[in-house]
Amino acid sequence: MDKLKQLEQTAKENHVPIMMKDGIEFLTDLVKERKPKRILELGTAIGYSAIQMARCDEKIEIDTIELDEERGKQAIQNILDEQLDHRVHVYLMNIDDYKTDKKYDLIFVDAAKAQYRRYMEMFMKNLSEGGVFVFDNLCFHGMVDDPSLIKSRQTRQLCRKIRDFRDWLIHEETLECDFRANIGDGVAVVSVKNENL
Ligand SMILES: C[S@@+](CC[C@H](N)C(=O)[O-])C[C@H]1O[C@@H](n2cnc3c(N)ncnc32)[C@H](O)[C@@H]1O
Repeated sequence: MDKLKQLEQTAKENHVPIMMKDGIEFLTDLVKERKPKRILELGTAIGYSAIQMARCDEKIEIDTIELDEERGKQAIQNILDEQLDHRVHVYLMNIDDYKTDKKYDLIFVDAAKAQYRRYMEMFMKNLSEGGVFVFDNLCFHGMVDDPSLIKSRQTRQLCRKIRDFRDWLIHEETLECDFRANIGDGVAVVSVKNENL
């Protein structure tokens, strides 16, 4: 079985959240089109999206961060199996502790949804000129736009935070935001307008 199919199955069986099919297609198309040299990914899980992005071009280098030890170790093994370990580096740690001066052409944010704005502020200095942030789960399974689907207070609070963040992304004058509600779980590609770099 192809490695990616195997990862999709493992993720499904173990309830590991990975990017949805059309979301990952959108992301890999974006990578092929923009040709980033360096990518930072926040939220590795088992390495599915990192492997997909790395497969787009053999020059791409990826730093990817995962807090969960078991998932992170699986990701390291999966990346080794794909012989991508020389260009995909998994950091088993909390995103909050990842400090670097490196510049990235694409920063893919796919970890704690309530922290998206903070992550964006944290890593703004690491975005290369002309680089983009990509955010996933901005619709959170339809619940951000249809609160009647929400079953718990905690999820309600989370959806409110995602909605506030999304509104801010769309309306903030210093940013250029391409939000696609119909792609995967809601994806946005965000860049900083030139005069604000
Ligand atoms: C949606 S999954 C990532 C899926 C992956 N990008 C993919 O599509 O294959 C989000 C991951 O972020 C991790 N995460 C959440 N908070 C984190 C933090 N503060 N530091 C590092 N990783 C974190 C979770 O453990 C989880 O595995």
